[in-house]
Amino acid sequence: MTERLVIRQGTPADLAGIEAIYPLAFPDEDLLPVVRSLLAEPNIAMSMVGEIDGSVVGNIIFTDCGVNEATTGAALLAPLAVMPSHHGQRIGSALIRAGLESLREQGLGSVFVLGDPAFYGRLGFKTETRVEPPYPLPAAWASAWQSQELCDTTSLPKGKLWVPDPWRDPALWSE
Ligand SMILES: CC(C)(COP(=O)(O)OP(=O)(O)OC[C@H]1O[C@@H](n2cnc3c(N)ncnc32)[C@H](O)[C@@H]1OP(=O)(O)O)[C@@H](O)C(=O)NCCC(=O)NCCS
Repeated sequence: MTERLVIRQGTPADLAGIEAIYPLAFPDEDLLPVVRSLLAEPNIAMSMVGEIDGSVVGNIIFTDCGVNEATTGAALLAPLAVMPSHHGQRIGSALIRAGLESLREQGLGSVFVLGDPAFYGRLGFKTETRVEPPYPLPAAWASAWQSQELCDTTSLPKGKLWVPDPWRDPALWSE
């Protein structure tokens, strides 16, 4: 990992830097609407950034979620993006680790993610089958729905992940 990398909580002043990353990291997908909605709600979404020499080069967002009727107790990791010019320098992994550590300190039970198991599996995530995603996923994505427990708290019930408004768009959960 680059020694100049600083991982810290995001602030409103990071908005432009974060907005510059997503279209480059996701050229075929417009995640800016959901990113802006999440950043506008710091009470339910924790944003962290990776910064090198004053420039934001990576962003990760964790949203408060729950299972079934509960609106707390779990978090959704999404999205995560690193400037393509900085891929492969462990910035994505560092953002995930720092975010998980912060959530663990807050006593959060479980974190869910929809992503490549080859990447997230290295960071402690395992295929999730007890808690369903908020919308049905394409069959090919079954192993992409993953979770990890952060604290030895009461296990979450079996059911469906409850997500707040910014994530209640089926298009965000389909190919
Ligand atoms: C995925 C992403 C965040 C990883 O960030 P990064 O800083 O490049 O990742 P790291 O340097 O921490 O880890 C790199 C390692 O993960 C691997 N990796 C990265 N993306 C991967 C993926 N999608 N699937 C499998 N492995 C992946 C790399 O090959 C590398 O492996 P190596 O150590 O054996 O060389 C970054 O590539 C990115 O922004 N991609 C575009 C957006 C995206 O796909 N976001 C994730 C959505 S779920």
